[in-house]
Amino acid sequence: MLELKGLSLHPATAEKPVLKGINLKAHYGKPVIVAGPSGSGKTSLVEVISGLSKPQKGEINWKNNQINEQQRRLLCGIVFQFPERYFLGLTVGQELRLGHRRLNGADLELVLKKVGLSDIDLKKAPEQLSGGQQRRLALAVQLLRNPSILLLDEPTAGLDWSVRGEILALLANLAKEQVLIVVTHEAELFKNWMISSYQLNEGVLLPVNALPNIDKKR
Ligand SMILES: Nc1ncnc2c1ncn2[C@@H]1O[C@H](COP(=O)(O)OP(=O)(O)OP(=O)(O)O)[C@@H](O)[C@H]1O
Ligand SMILES: [Mg+2]
Repeated sequence: MLELKGLSLHPATAEKPVLKGINLKAHYGKPVIVAGPSGSGKTSLVEVISGLSKPQKGEINWKNNQINEQQRRLLCGIVFQFPERYFLGLTVGQELRLGHRRLNGADLELVLKKVGLSDIDLKKAPEQLSGGQQRRLALAVQLLRNPSILLLDEPTAGLDWSVRGEILALLANLAKEQVLIVVTHEAELFKNWMISSYQLNEGVLLPVNALPNIDKKR
């Protein structure tokens, strides 16, 4: 379990604190959705959890042990908003193998299957993939690192409706194996999930005490 306690972030370049006394718990099998308007601190929260920035106050615990930035970078996989902007490989195969010199075929196949890209042509350029396939590729790149915690920043942004549905189904599956934290301004898309729901406003995070909707019919 991941637990944030009294976490505050005030970057030197920011006028005001960006995150204020954040408390959050995330468990396996129960994704956390953090909703919040633009500028509320969602991306900053992802950056702190993943060890890309250091909070001024508070602690982050993993399985009841406090963990530092370096440990968090190892534990976390992040998919940033519009991850397709950051592809570095010339081909899909190269993109997947970056940082995994000894990647074996079986591991690669397993991850591609998980993200629904089993039949992908590894020689294609990432830019030739559809929007949904590019998101799947970005997820696959992170899953190859075998992260315990998966952080997704606006995973459905900019996708059309049918593709959004596919990505949501994929994420629901991943949540069974990873601690999953999604920050989004489209929280209503996740309303049929068994989630822990939080609302972030001006750096203040509050749990949303709505009961999960058990009607799974579409
Ligand atoms: N390093 C920094 N220096 C100065 N200001 C910062 C820094 N990091 C974040 N901020 C400020 O903190 C606030 C929250 O930013 P953040 O990007 O986390 O919001 P967000 O909720 O992700 O917004 P969006 O939905 O638009 O992506 C913004 O006002 C931003 O300008
Ligand atoms: Mg953001």
